[in-house]
Amino acid sequence: MRILFRLGLGLSLYFLFTMPLQARCGGVLALVPPGLRIGTDQHLNLSTSSHTYAPGEPGSDNPYSYEFLEAASPFIQAGKSILILGAGSGYEAIAIAKKFPSVSITASDISNDALRDLEINLEEYGLSESVRVLKSDLFNDLKGEKFDVILFTAPRPLCPDLLRLGPLDAIRLVSSLSRCTSNFDSWGTIHERALTQFEEHLSLGGSLILLTDKRFPHSKFVSPQIKKTVLGEGLWTPNHEKDGHFQIVRFH
Ligand SMILES: C[S@@+](CC[C@H](N)C(=O)[O-])C[C@H]1O[C@@H](n2cnc3c(N)ncnc32)[C@H](O)[C@@H]1O
Repeated sequence: MRILFRLGLGLSLYFLFTMPLQARCGGVLALVPPGLRIGTDQHLNLSTSSHTYAPGEPGSDNPYSYEFLEAASPFIQAGKSILILGAGSGYEAIAIAKKFPSVSITASDISNDALRDLEINLEEYGLSESVRVLKSDLFNDLKGEKFDVILFTAPRPLCPDLLRLGPLDAIRLVSSLSRCTSNFDSWGTIHERALTQFEEHLSLGGSLILLTDKRFPHSKFVSPQIKKTVLGEGLWTPNHEKDGHFQIVRFH
């Protein structure tokens, strides 16, 4: 009887403390042991042409793809369907496909150069059959399709990066990021377009995970509707506070 009482008390305390934590955004991330995170053991060797964004190593000046995947990994589980928008040379697609062979992955990009590199890298890792590759301007060629998780590492603004770098590294970063903007989108409009369209492509209970910047929802170019979505329902992961970059995670 006493054992049952203690067990009941233990379980109640566990739920009392962990449920509110999980209901808040950051708590979900904190509950994942590092070993389960996708990015921790992924130092991928990717070929990137001169026109394609080259993700940097963890600890480098350009670790965003790696850190993004770290933050997104609690949402990626076996059996889920994942859309990677702006898949570039394949960092997320390859890391996820290696870790979770049963995840269904669609990797899309607007750039022909990126798609060529993506296919070369998938081939190199023996994953060509595991990842569906598609050319699309955001969701334009994904009409009627739904996914459990949508990842988007959109092109980002340069200022915070440039200010903290020396001149040579700054030039290198500008040249790298200039390869990842599409022709007609500024940073604000690409986020705005993605946030306007994503809902019809998420399965029930799905998540959009977007790499962005904490200044984004306050920009005067962002519509009141998107401001409301981001500030009201967007959940900001805390791990990029140091340099102002955040991910929004939103449950549908
Ligand atoms: C910062 S790079 C990230 C690449 C990759 N996810 C990674 O982390 O290595 C952004 C990618 O978004 C793609 N992109 C830009 N505008 C896009 C659009 N409108 N629709 C789809 N992809 C787009 C670029 O071609 C580029 O490959």
